[in-house]
Amino acid sequence: MCGIIGYIGHQPATPILINGLRRLEYRGYDSAGVALLERGKLAVTKRAGKVEQLACAVDEAAAATAGIAHTRWATHGRPTRRNAHPHTSGGRVAVVHNGIVENYAELKAKLQAAGYRFTSQTDSEVLAHLIDHKLASGGDVLAATTAALTEVVGTFGLAVVCREQPDQLIAARRGSPLLIGLRADETYLASDATALVGHTDQVVYLEDDEVAVCTRGRYRLVDLQNRERARQSRTIELPLGTADKGGYDHFLLKEIMEQPQSVTDGLRGRLSSAEGISHLGGLNLTEPQLRGFGRLLVIGCGSAYYSGLVGKYLLERLTGLPVDVEFASEFRYRQPVLAPGTLCVLVSQSGETADTLAAMRELKRRGLPTLGLVNVVGSSLAREVDGGIYLHAGPEISVASTKAFTAQVVAQLLLGLKIARHRDLSLAEGQEIVAALGGLPGVIARVLESAPRIKAIAAKYAGCRQAMYLGRDSLYPVALEGAHKLKEISYVQAEAYPAGEMKHGANALIDEELLVVFLTPRNALYAKARSNLEEVRARGSQLIALGTQGDQDIAKLARDVITIPPVSPWIEPIVANLPLQLLAYYMAVERGTDVDQPRNLAKSVTVE
Ligand code: G6P
Repeated sequence: MCGIIGYIGHQPATPILINGLRRLEYRGYDSAGVALLERGKLAVTKRAGKVEQLACAVDEAAAATAGIAHTRWATHGRPTRRNAHPHTSGGRVAVVHNGIVENYAELKAKLQAAGYRFTSQTDSEVLAHLIDHKLASGGDVLAATTAALTEVVGTFGLAVVCREQPDQLIAARRGSPLLIGLRADETYLASDATALVGHTDQVVYLEDDEVAVCTRGRYRLVDLQNRERARQSRTIELPLGTADKGGYDHFLLKEIMEQPQSVTDGLRGRLSSAEGISHLGGLNLTEPQLRGFGRLLVIGCGSAYYSGLVGKYLLERLTGLPVDVEFASEFRYRQPVLAPGTLCVLVSQSGETADTLAAMRELKRRGLPTLGLVNVVGSSLAREVDGGIYLHAGPEISVASTKAFTAQVVAQLLLGLKIARHRDLSLAEGQEIVAALGGLPGVIARVLESAPRIKAIAAKYAGCRQAMYLGRDSLYPVALEGAHKLKEISYVQAEAYPAGEMKHGANALIDEELLVVFLTPRNALYAKARSNLEEVRARGSQLIALGTQGDQDIAKLARDVITIPPVSPWIEPIVANLPLQLLAYYMAVERGTDVDQPRNLAKSVTVE
């Protein structure tokens, strides 16, 4: 989603800003722009399309040593050059904005009445004119920005430059992340630490309704009433190597292939086979608390939500507690009935998804304990929850989630194991799960070796127009995630059903053109799933089965078979999902889509 980078220092700003935008590209965007403070004027360049088009249009050797830049993901107004940020007001003020100005129509009407002319269809342009309007009534750009923001309803990660105060950048945040990076006599602004890679690991996170004045190597924080706020900078672990595809054609494939390592990292130091338990240092829950919960509530969006659905099957079986799973976007506006004694688990790769953050805040308001299963260290969710488990999956750049999804399921297993061992789970059962998790990286590595075979299968079916994924038990949510992945990156219409539910409606869709991906490994429900598979076969669809190695029976029934090794049911959904990731990836490559940055999608959705 939209990205911000700002710089004020002594080096030429343009290459720093353009490279910062390149690092933010993975978030998803459709246009880009830059504003430079140069010899008493503001030079603004914008382009629809990719950062490379902007890079060709700007003068990398320009002398400016301060500026702000943006990648835009269209919300209000089409992805055109005119709607791209920075937005300016009379050549005096330029702003870049992440978030949404909800009362923009009202503010726009007032500003138009005051003589301001609007050139874009965006909500963000009102911010430039509003700040300019406040400047006209006296005071500096800081005072004008704080005064303007008190009138704004909505969310913002905002950077402002003003022609008359070329030695400062103003930054402000409400609901959309922004951090300041510091190095000697240079200061950076970024919506995401990835943009600071190679520059500095000393950062200050802005809190909601804070405004920062950034000068060369220094910053000052105030609230919207201009009261001083004190905050020390801290050292963060920067996601090194993020911009590198490591020899793969796409980040997505790199991230799929990294899973033996990312799972190893997520498990490191967390498994005890002697005690058959997991050690999780960040839960901030006492043993009596862990024993006392009567219910679990898991909340997320997109793949994080599907990981929660997989988690439901695993966690209920492990802990004996009822588990509810909710889309954050639904939860936040419902009237949820929340039983006391519910442990709330917020799942998010980025830790910045607006709906998930809002759900977490609502849960905190209702006094329930919150845990975050988060990948990005220091993200808003990670900072605001009561406790949590970092996923340690490493940076995930491709918009579609793969290794983070796997890590989210692993983290739920670790959490379930911990709770269950403080309740009824026996040592022997705990040790069985520890052994299964300990062996998981090796199993993943073996499954990923089947990539060439899956590539060949994908080539055969890449022309399909519709796909249906079917599975039972914990493989039903895996089917949902498999269909989700195919939709996201190959743009094929895909659905998923519990295999036993087909006869209640989905069977009507089956014909020779439909691609069916059937998950039927040799597990407790194999016989049931196999007879569902026969039903699909009888209707003549194009059938790919995912089965257990050596299952000759399945090989006779399906046109193509993808196999996984026989594994413990505790890790089976994680393992079964891997071939589906590869299938979606190779289908997308065959279809020629923008695999890492699919159309209309963003990595981190920081608006509603
Ligand atoms: C976006 C991404 C998805 C992701 C979802 C939740 O829609 O495109 O890949 O699953 O957000 O993101 P989160 O960072 O909260 O896990």
